[in-house]
Amino acid sequence: MEKLYPDSEVELTPFTAKHYDKLLNVATLGFYRGFIRRAIAAMQIGPDDQILDMGCGTGRNACLMYKYLKTGKVTGLDISEIMEKQFIRKCVGPKGAEFSRQRIDIPFDLDRKFDRVFISFVLHGFPHEIRGIVINNAAGHLKENGVFHILDYAEFDLEAAPAYARIPFKKIECPYAFDYIEKEWKEILKKSGFREFEEQYFMKGYVRLLSARL
Ligand SMILES: C[S@@+](CC[C@H](N)C(=O)[O-])C[C@H]1O[C@@H](n2cnc3c(N)ncnc32)[C@H](O)[C@@H]1O
Repeated sequence: MEKLYPDSEVELTPFTAKHYDKLLNVATLGFYRGFIRRAIAAMQIGPDDQILDMGCGTGRNACLMYKYLKTGKVTGLDISEIMEKQFIRKCVGPKGAEFSRQRIDIPFDLDRKFDRVFISFVLHGFPHEIRGIVINNAAGHLKENGVFHILDYAEFDLEAAPAYARIPFKKIECPYAFDYIEKEWKEILKKSGFREFEEQYFMKGYVRLLSARL
């Protein structure tokens, strides 16, 4: 499939999509497992929550959310057929999640609203003008008082960062990610009507769960 945005690394190659969870575990020397559990626990999911996971990937995150759900449900959206297959295998059959093959970088309407919208390691991989569309899609699918959770890089000064963070970031990240870490995300979200921000930091402060209420 041709890339929508040539410099994006969140539009994964078939190999990376197929082995995504394992590659993350290896690349983070096993730290990802504990980190993602803690990040999802920090969302404070309620048992009845309806959650929209934009760019849901394999379903690893959605499955972890089911630890906190009783009647609630996760709806995953992704463009990748390889991710769709993994999400269905892990989360649709065993957990009762839903999946829809849907681009999140163009306006869409699912005809229902959610208590939470989650986006994890996707937003940094779009050109900045496209991120605004993604944020509006999140806002448009939240109930009043619903919460938008962005799990992604924190804001930081790359050149001031120690070598263990600076070198891998420069090596693996796409050009779009370099301006993502320089933006003031709370100010950007305020312009789309978000308020009451909460931040939790992980991975030595380089990754943040930013939660904002509509
Ligand atoms: C880096 S992966 C993150 C996956 C998952 N959110 C996670 O944290 O494990 C990026 C995901 O975004 C999806 N994606 C990329 N561009 C997209 C788009 N325009 N619309 C919907 N999904 C997209 C990819 O297929 C991939 O599954």
